[in-house]
Amino acid sequence: MTFSPPPQTSDKAAASEPALVDPFGRHVSYLRVSVTDRCDFRCVYCMSEHMSFLPKKDLLTLEELDRLCSAFISKGVRKLRITGGEPLVRKNILSLFKSLSRHLETGRLEEVTLTTNGSQLAKFAGDLRTAGVRRVNVSVDTLDPVKFKAVTRWGDLATVLDGIKAAQRAGLAIKINAVALKDVNEHEIDDLIRFAHGEGHDLTLIETMPLGEIEGDRTDQYLPLSRVRADLLERWTLDDIPFRTGGPARYVTVRETGGRLGFITPLTHNFCESCNRVRVTCTGTLFMCLGQEDAADLRTPLRASPDNGLLFEAIDAAIQRKPKGHDFVIDRRAQKPAVGRHMSMTGG
Ligand code: GTP
Ligand code: 5AD
Ligand code: SF4
Repeated sequence: MTFSPPPQTSDKAAASEPALVDPFGRHVSYLRVSVTDRCDFRCVYCMSEHMSFLPKKDLLTLEELDRLCSAFISKGVRKLRITGGEPLVRKNILSLFKSLSRHLETGRLEEVTLTTNGSQLAKFAGDLRTAGVRRVNVSVDTLDPVKFKAVTRWGDLATVLDGIKAAQRAGLAIKINAVALKDVNEHEIDDLIRFAHGEGHDLTLIETMPLGEIEGDRTDQYLPLSRVRADLLERWTLDDIPFRTGGPARYVTVRETGGRLGFITPLTHNFCESCNRVRVTCTGTLFMCLGQEDAADLRTPLRASPDNGLLFEAIDAAIQRKPKGHDFVIDRRAQKPAVGRHMSMTGG
């Protein structure tokens, strides 16, 4: 089943909407949309094994998500990233990609991308490409099938690698995301580099962030990327490059492979001053910062009227509250994570 995109009037009426600029002069041009909080994995750094998910009735419909994204596009958002949970487990999700592709055709949107755990990628890759997606980020923290099972609890490495192959065959550019985990993949980064670059993919390493309660202690998992980088320098030549995707990763080229390696370092090197993004969840809650609790309800104004006036007002007011940055710390003395919600709610 597909749905028809909402009437064009709401988009047109907003063509002259002022751009989104926060109190620190940062332009918000990137919206990350978490289309579901559910996931078919239970990564140890992300979720607890027994999660309670939102009741389906609380979710925005795909039509409402389209309308919300389109409102942001009217206000100058140029990049959309669809995330989750695992976005590809949301029923009928392809129809959202298809309907959003009209904004790619008009040129108002530069790209629609996807962050996925790869479990469903073999099934969806071709259709995603047809719907206008050109790059996907896939999480692979380890290439050891036993460790992979231990980290994701429910995931299967071979299925994910098949998904990556299918995405490659479909012509999608792939970035592999690996969360750096002490004692888990600490001594496997060389293999991840060889694998990703050998297949022509970018690789990004990520510091674990204190979001949501998990079973373990994050202090045990945390591996500062400053340490990883120093260690890599013993065997690889890393050349800093100005390449940016619009995200927080800072890239180097690994001279020996010719591939790109990114570092996302919210803890060891804060990048908030250049933040260009906000996040909306599947219930229409807007988070102005990944690392802060403040949020704005967009579902109420969205549902209050078919006209976008109230929605635009709510978005403008929220952007005026975008905080300067996060204050993540990973410390054994900290009893609670910096932010109560899990990454799966906002999709990173
Ligand atoms: P592109 O650069 O567009 O490829 O995307 P990305 O690397 O930002 O996206 P992806 O979904 O692959 O996220 C990778 C990691 O970066 C996730 O762990 C995110 O939580 C983290 N990340 C993305 N944006 C931010 C941000 O604004 N602040 C923080 N602290 N982390 C972020
Ligand atoms: N800290 C850092 N990265 C995380 N991810 C999920 N939870 C966390 C966390 N607490 C990663 C996933 C995926 C990306 C969207 O975020 O592995 O690559
Ligand atoms: Fe699912 Fe991604 Fe969280 Fe893993 S990190 S449990 S794949 S949402």
